[in-house]
Amino acid sequence: MKRRTFLATLGSLPVLGLNAGWARAATGGNMLPAVAVKLAAVDALGAGAAINDLIKLANTSGQPGLFRASLSAAPVNVPLLSGAPTEFWAYNGSLPGPLIEVIEGDTVEILFENRLPQATTVHWHGLPVPPEQDGNPHDPVPPGGKRLYRFVLPVGSAGTYWYHPHPHGDTPVQVYRGLAGAFIVRARSDPLRDIPERLLMISDLKLGADGRIAPNDADDEMNGREGQFALVNAQRQPVLLFDRSGRERWRIWNASSARYLRLVLPGAGITLVGTDGGLLERPVTGMTELLLAPAQRVEIIVEAGASKGRVELVAAPYNRGKMGDVPAEKAFSLLTLDFGKVESGAQKPLPARLGRIDDLGRPKAKKRVVFSEQMSMAGGGHSMKFLVNGKQFDMKRIDLVSRVNQVELWQIANEADMDHPFHIHGTQFQVIEREFDGKATPEPYRAWRDTVNLRPGETVRIKLVQRFKGVRMFHCHILEHEGAGMMGQLKVV
Ligand code: C2O
Ligand code: CU
Ligand code: CU
Repeated sequence: MKRRTFLATLGSLPVLGLNAGWARAATGGNMLPAVAVKLAAVDALGAGAAINDLIKLANTSGQPGLFRASLSAAPVNVPLLSGAPTEFWAYNGSLPGPLIEVIEGDTVEILFENRLPQATTVHWHGLPVPPEQDGNPHDPVPPGGKRLYRFVLPVGSAGTYWYHPHPHGDTPVQVYRGLAGAFIVRARSDPLRDIPERLLMISDLKLGADGRIAPNDADDEMNGREGQFALVNAQRQPVLLFDRSGRERWRIWNASSARYLRLVLPGAGITLVGTDGGLLERPVTGMTELLLAPAQRVEIIVEAGASKGRVELVAAPYNRGKMGDVPAEKAFSLLTLDFGKVESGAQKPLPARLGRIDDLGRPKAKKRVVFSEQMSMAGGGHSMKFLVNGKQFDMKRIDLVSRVNQVELWQIANEADMDHPFHIHGTQFQVIEREFDGKATPEPYRAWRDTVNLRPGETVRIKLVQRFKGVRMFHCHILEHEGAGMMGQLKVV
């Protein structure tokens, strides 16, 4: 059982009763501590254990083509530090949430139960599901409530997705307390199926010295929350014993609230083979680093080559323009890769063609989205407003209207001073070009994405189609910005 492994990794201490009252208090409204809470030391969590696999959500349907399961969100106490257990909120008691693995074409039926002290939803990030099944903030599941999510995942939707809460206002808190899980749609025929696969879900943890998950402070609200821990499969700096064959296929999720991951793996070869919404047309070889903005996923092939011994997967410094008096970015290790068992460095070439991504075609309509920041002096203190097209999110307002099945060109501009990752629900898009410093660079290859980063001053042009009528959210995926209203609504008619 995953929870047991998780506990074993971090030491075992008695599990105390739940304290929902505390949870409610700690997560309520505008409780920004003036002085940041004292955090646990970075070595307070053990490192160096063998990496855990993600546990799978059991399919209880005996019927081919139908994936049926139940999922609950509930508080769970985990003894991380001696003294007081840490209350997480988890799907099925598991950190990260259980892996949902289906095959393209499958019908998915998930009976969800909310055992949290507040309303929630389950959003299927990146998946082409109808709006009324997509966990929009308009469809809250109240505490103690249940709901059935049901959708069909069409052939062609194979890719690397995830699920997380999306209630009105409380998404940041629910995700940073632990609610997020991986969702893989497998292809019926996968050109890379023979390569051993590794799933790495990276999340953030900001842990108080008292063992509680720390609330957001003013810097977190402004820049997006970054704790002292970046965990991989809920472990601090685990060790990954590399496959004997010398080659692995990795799927990596950046499930953190706001942390950018500029991944480098000195001493190993990296080939990019897939993005959020599935495989590329051709492998992109010779990558030296990969930037994963919050919510983005990649599929890569990692090769040991001549490497022996151990190397670190490092998150190198990336300056995303944080404001205020925050420490300078520095590199840190996410995990240790152990090549000790590798038997051969020689590999047969990867398939030259991985799949086909057709150009979406000539756009019939255009949209423009502008991200901006505005200083606000309301209430005496300084705070920052995060805006989309000059406005804060309003659930009663439709910001843009699209026609179903019509190809559109979206121009997204970041007029703010920090990076903001743009995400839209319900579909995968194709980036056409990125314009920065007066220079437009066409995208070097076609890829399916649902999240794209924008540097300050950058404009990105994408093509997309929505295949269902209804309301879709689009927003910055730094969750504190989304929570503060950097989100809009698209109505598809
Ligand atoms: Cu991830 Cu709106 O979502
Ligand atoms: Cu989403
Ligand atoms: Cu943002």
